[in-house]
Amino acid sequence: MSQTSEFLSSPQPRARWMRFDTAQILKRFFFCERSLLVSEASWIPAIAPLDIKTALARFIWQSSETADALRNRVFELRFPSRLLEEQGADHALIELFSAVKDSPSVPAFLLSIGRILLPALRDSFQAYLAASDAIADGPTHRFLSVALAEKSEQITAFEQWGESALASNPELREGALAWAQTIAKRLSDVGGVGVGPSSSSAIAGPLPGAKAYNIPDRPARDMRFWPCRFYWPDVVDPSYPYGEGMQLQLRSAISHLNEVWAIENGGVMLSAFADILPWEWIHNAARWTYDESRHCRMGYERLIAWSLNPAEIPLGTYIYESGSGQDPIYRLGMLYFFETKNIRHKPARAQLFHAYGDALSEHDMDFDWADETMHAGYGKHWLKELLAVRGQDPAAYDQVRERCEKLVGDYVSTATPDEVAGIKRVASALMAKARQTM
Ligand SMILES: [Fe+2]
Ligand SMILES: [Fe+2]
Repeated sequence: MSQTSEFLSSPQPRARWMRFDTAQILKRFFFCERSLLVSEASWIPAIAPLDIKTALARFIWQSSETADALRNRVFELRFPSRLLEEQGADHALIELFSAVKDSPSVPAFLLSIGRILLPALRDSFQAYLAASDAIADGPTHRFLSVALAEKSEQITAFEQWGESALASNPELREGALAWAQTIAKRLSDVGGVGVGPSSSSAIAGPLPGAKAYNIPDRPARDMRFWPCRFYWPDVVDPSYPYGEGMQLQLRSAISHLNEVWAIENGGVMLSAFADILPWEWIHNAARWTYDESRHCRMGYERLIAWSLNPAEIPLGTYIYESGSGQDPIYRLGMLYFFETKNIRHKPARAQLFHAYGDALSEHDMDFDWADETMHAGYGKHWLKELLAVRGQDPAAYDQVRERCEKLVGDYVSTATPDEVAGIKRVASALMAKARQTM
């Protein structure tokens, strides 16, 4: 039966989703990205290879940028205006993205994200871009296309990391594959991510094989480097000079490489306060963590460019471990302490590197300085916010900083004579090697 209408109409794929439907889906994507990045951040200390730690920090930052754009877009659409803070009918789905935090092992974590969760997000972004209206929803198309390209890169990386983690821990293979299957099954039970209506699934609760997450007390370290707690003699011997000339060039690169602790602290604190502080915390902490990963890479790349061998380069753990077993506020405090302590030296060092004709050290120090200026602001702001949320005096942020100084001092005082002799030997050998390559 055909009906004639007195109005103009045509079949229009553009009109498939109204403003409300669009905002519902974008809100779901926001919560998935948010939960995924929080889970990823918490695992940074547990994963040893340096290239995974640094790339993971970059992926977390990418997710946070996508999530922030999604969140702003939902606000623009004025989707029932106050409802963004609630997960609504997607609750069980979002729980699942948080549940990978309780993965039973490193390969299980890598596989469940690389094979299940990231592909689900990629496919959903793709479906969204294909079905939504590029005119009415043009602003979403721009950032979601970027996010889609990033998801493909993330999947490739996670797949490689998963494979190499399995290859070096074959005894974990069976458990890791079973965990990925558990995640896949739960994802399908809760209706997937997709672009359809929320499944309103009530399925939740513990996943078989899950292992409750604990902040690692000791960070996993890349065994290509010389493993130690204290990564340069001046850390344990105040009479040992920071140095000038070639020694300063080397010392600065060693410092940058050893900012690996700052990536780890960044990930742990992001995750520890994700549900206590507002979204802006996660967004700032993700950028912070990523910046520290860039500083770490700066040091690594300079040392390698000078033809030094990772096995002769000390990679320490003391700053991370100074905060272990403490309230995680001290992981945030530790970043604030070191950043405010060191920032004043940076412009002078950049100038010295300029005078040495070492453009790369100068360039890295100069960019590092800009990041650190921003971080000092983050540190003060979020320490105060965190204290306020806890019902404590926000002005006590400086006491947190002082306690961090004490924690580090106490930890440094546990250095054994063997460790002190060892790091002096390694530092001398590295300087001799650098002199040879000059
Ligand atoms: Fe840094
Ligand atoms: Fe920093």
